[in-house]
Amino acid sequence: LPATAEVTNGKLRIGGIAVSELVAEYGTPLHIYDEEALRAQMRSYVDGMRQRWPNSDVLFASKAAPLVAIYAIAAAEGMAIDIAGSGELELALAAGVDPERIYFHGNAKTDYELARAIEVGVHMIVVDSEDELDRLERLVPATHKQRLLLRVIPGVDAQTHASMNTGGSDSTFGLPPARVHELIEDLRDHDRLDVVGVHVHIGSQILNTGQFAEAVAALAPIGGLKVYDLGGGLGVAYHEHEIAPSVDEYLDALIAAARKHLPADAQLLIEPGRSTVARAGVTAYRVVVVKQTGKRFVAVDGGMADQLEVPLTGVRFDAILADRADEAPDTEVQLVGRQCESGDLLIDDARLPSPRVDDIVVMPVTGAYSYTMTNNYNGALRPAVVMVSNGKARLAARREEVADLLRLHEPAGGYDWRNP
Ligand code: LLP
Repeated sequence: LPATAEVTNGKLRIGGIAVSELVAEYGTPLHIYDEEALRAQMRSYVDGMRQRWPNSDVLFASKAAPLVAIYAIAAAEGMAIDIAGSGELELALAAGVDPERIYFHGNAKTDYELARAIEVGVHMIVVDSEDELDRLERLVPATHKQRLLLRVIPGVDAQTHASMNTGGSDSTFGLPPARVHELIEDLRDHDRLDVVGVHVHIGSQILNTGQFAEAVAALAPIGGLKVYDLGGGLGVAYHEHEIAPSVDEYLDALIAAARKHLPADAQLLIEPGRSTVARAGVTAYRVVVVKQTGKRFVAVDGGMADQLEVPLTGVRFDAILADRADEAPDTEVQLVGRQCESGDLLIDDARLPSPRVDDIVVMPVTGAYSYTMTNNYNGALRPAVVMVSNGKARLAARREEVADLLRLHEPAGGYDWRNP
């Protein structure tokens, strides 16, 4: 649970407010962020990095929680911003992030996205392919010199779920080290493309810090550059029996490897996403159905439309009941969602005090990649997001409404399917 969580009279409170009060006001499903916990985690990254390697910057990998509120908080806490698409770019700009603090990632950036990024003046573009270099060659105007990093495939197994492993030698992301070497040479005197360094990112939800050290070692042969971006990927503990390295343990391992393999005068970048925001967020659902067939099922009013991580990556969450948090768990249930998909599972074996219809179920550690992947499966509406702090709640994103859903289908371009 997030840092400020406490249980009084059986009621779970976060940021000084009972979850059931938040739910009464904002409805369910509801994403709740503990602002203090969020800021504290961001600070531990920024301070921890600065102490160990002063010439460094911490980028928030904003794909983990692309909310204007969180872009603004990250920027205020001293983080730069990693975006991976023009949608995230616009959200960051809307949050008031200085383009000089924006780094643009992505493996298939379009002309439109690159032109827009150059136009607003993003600090860095992280190039993933030679086609992207060709596009930049065409798009960067004569008056501009664009800073670039080249993404390297390090050939390192992140030892994580297959869908989150991006550093192996058959990865889609990046270019082989030897080719990166040649490209750096070829572009050395380019008038508009300024390759200042390289980037590596081996995957996500990584629990073994040794893998990060290997990725750093893979960059050693590409020496003499100004900037080394070591990516993100630190895992978090999703349930009580899982253990994840702390930010300090992670930085110790990473920076020890950097001291060994990278130039001492280089600037180091890291781009944590999940581990920055995951533990600060919880999701609240309302129980709709309790039934016993082959198994005991508890169905809630959300599911893979707002929590796609489970079917996609097999994450195993825990749950508690918001207003019965002091009752001993005595039942094992399968917590399922409401999308028409047998894979729509929230928790396979949740231990709860025998749940009843209308109980509020809270799933901790859902601050990362949950809101990110919300979708409209079965016409589901995106949940509201609320930020709590010191007994105050502020909406970070309003709940999607039926009108939002219908807007995309309004007769456009003069053609109305109802009157062909
Ligand atoms: N940098 C790059 C280039 C990335 O691709 C990512 C994540 C990060 C940084 C941040 O990694 P993190 O610190 O969050 O592990 N959809 C999956 C997660 C995909 C991660 C994508 N890239 C999930 O639901 O778990």
